[in-house]
Amino acid sequence: MPSIDHYCVMGNPIAHSRSPRIHQLFAERTGQALRYERQLVPLDGFAAAVRAFAAGGGKGLNVTVPFKLEAAAIASTQSDRVRRAGAANTLVLQEGGGIHADNTDGLGLVADIVRNAGVPIAGQRVLLLGAGGAAAGALAPLLEQAPAQLVVCNRTAAKASALAAQHADLALLHKTELLAQEQQALQGSFDIIINATASSLAGAQIAVPASVLRPASLVYDMMYGPAAQPFLAWAAQHGATGRDGLGMLVEQAAEAFALWRGVRPPSQPVLAQLRLEVDSKA
Ligand code: ATR
Repeated sequence: MPSIDHYCVMGNPIAHSRSPRIHQLFAERTGQALRYERQLVPLDGFAAAVRAFAAGGGKGLNVTVPFKLEAAAIASTQSDRVRRAGAANTLVLQEGGGIHADNTDGLGLVADIVRNAGVPIAGQRVLLLGAGGAAAGALAPLLEQAPAQLVVCNRTAAKASALAAQHADLALLHKTELLAQEQQALQGSFDIIINATASSLAGAQIAVPASVLRPASLVYDMMYGPAAQPFLAWAAQHGATGRDGLGMLVEQAAEAFALWRGVRPPSQPVLAQLRLEVDSKA
């Protein structure tokens, strides 16, 4: 008798991950039978944990902090997004032992902005704050939407320049002006401003000038819950509309679910459900 397919999310820490809940809701709504669990992995034990999970019949996993770079590195095949970002959040464990790595974070971000928030990226001016793993995962899917301009801005300017350089060909293809700018030298205002830094976790001040905002700007924080609040409060103070990253979380999970199961789950009702659950615990 075939056993139920098994998935998990690996990270450290992992206790607060909402991925099991999201995938359970997807499974219910698509009528798919699967089991999805959290797995706390020791900092030096990621590759061994993946091998053990595969040996036990696991079909796929999500990967979160701090293992996304390692997840890309251990894979036997990588999507173009993973090759560019150097980071993966989704692994498909294949029959025969192969591991395919994908990165659905940026797709999730784009889906939440374009579909759920109803804000087009095409032809717009976009500011991406940060140049770490989160920003790297977002850049290619953002460029694929063909914004008019995309500015990457980071505390450590050299990392923003390197990230922009790695994506120059995609920018050219989509006729996007892709620039790296220093925080203090940021000029002009933007239609969409995305916070992909960990600065709120560090309790840091918002380092970019409020002149980047317009009343009609969409200000997006990739985090949700209390971690998103400082940035969104700053946006609200200046009259801009804020959106947290809960929709990105649900949409990246939907992309992973589709990769594993070949079925696209309905993400919007799951996002509505999750929003209720998150708000009731706030
Ligand atoms: P993640 O995978 O979440 O992106 P990361 O790769 O460590 O994590 O990247 C963290 C990002 O947040 C980087 O852009 C980092 O800026 P630096 O490249 O200058 O380190 C940014 N960041 C972290 N703490 C910050 C702070 N206090 N102020 C501004 N930016 C900060």
